[in-house]
Amino acid sequence: MTVSSMKYFEARRMTVRYDRVRAISDVSIGFDAGEVVSLIGANGAGKSTSLRAITGLANLAEGEIWFDGQRIDRLPAARRVAMGIAMVPEGRRVFPLMSIRDNLLMGAYTRRDGAVKRDLDRILDRFPRLRERFRQQAGTLSGGEQEMLVIGRALMSKPRLLLLDEPSLGLAPLVVRDIARLVTEINREEGTSIVLVEQNSRMALRISRYAYVLETGRIGLEGASQSLLDDDKVKQLYLGG
Ligand SMILES: Nc1ncnc2c1ncn2[C@@H]1O[C@H](COP(=O)(O)OP(=O)(O)OP(=O)(O)O)[C@@H](O)[C@H]1O
Ligand SMILES: [Mg+2]
Repeated sequence: MTVSSMKYFEARRMTVRYDRVRAISDVSIGFDAGEVVSLIGANGAGKSTSLRAITGLANLAEGEIWFDGQRIDRLPAARRVAMGIAMVPEGRRVFPLMSIRDNLLMGAYTRRDGAVKRDLDRILDRFPRLRERFRQQAGTLSGGEQEMLVIGRALMSKPRLLLLDEPSLGLAPLVVRDIARLVTEINREEGTSIVLVEQNSRMALRISRYAYVLETGRIGLEGASQSLLDDDKVKQLYLGG
């Protein structure tokens, strides 16, 4: 396949094994620059493993991953970060004893350019609550604010591709709405491509263009998010009827 016919991001038939167990099999995901796609599915379906394979935290047993014309699946994770791939892992792990400022600056540790201060300011414009509490310990933030902080930290690496693992988990409906709005804004205003992993399928389908449904390690269904929202099987299994 020539570079010109290839999408901006293409994961082809990814298989990841933990010991002898297959966590994902033949998972293929592709999208153009500036798109939001979502990955939905039940507990243990392989959503996090798919993201970990893309970042290099899990090794492929089979398959290939291409990003912006380059094959990346054999590159170490740090090289992929330097290429502009950032992940916000599940569980919103902030550094609780460090200030909000220092948590955000940790996200820029790989950068060598002089624009870190300016970008910090831009990110704080997006998160007024973080600006208000800039010098306070991150552990004092609410769950929703901590999620904003880990997303802000990922943005500090200036990603071209942002992978979000269950950003809405355990948050109140109003806060989930804030997170959804934020994801849409980042995509529109920064042009960042986004892969959104969610168990809140309805939220994910509303804000993505295309979606993949993982079922026990395989893609059981995929399509335009709007058509999945209207699909009877998806409604019954993933949207609560
Ligand atoms: N470190 C590991 N060692 C062994 N098996 C693992 C490991 N991590 C995940 N698995 C297994 O791989 C499969 C996929 O797990 P994964 O965490 O990717 O699912 P998930 O869709 O993210 O689930 P959840 O919604 O609970 O976060 C599961 O069967 C899980 O038990
Ligand atoms: Mg997971």
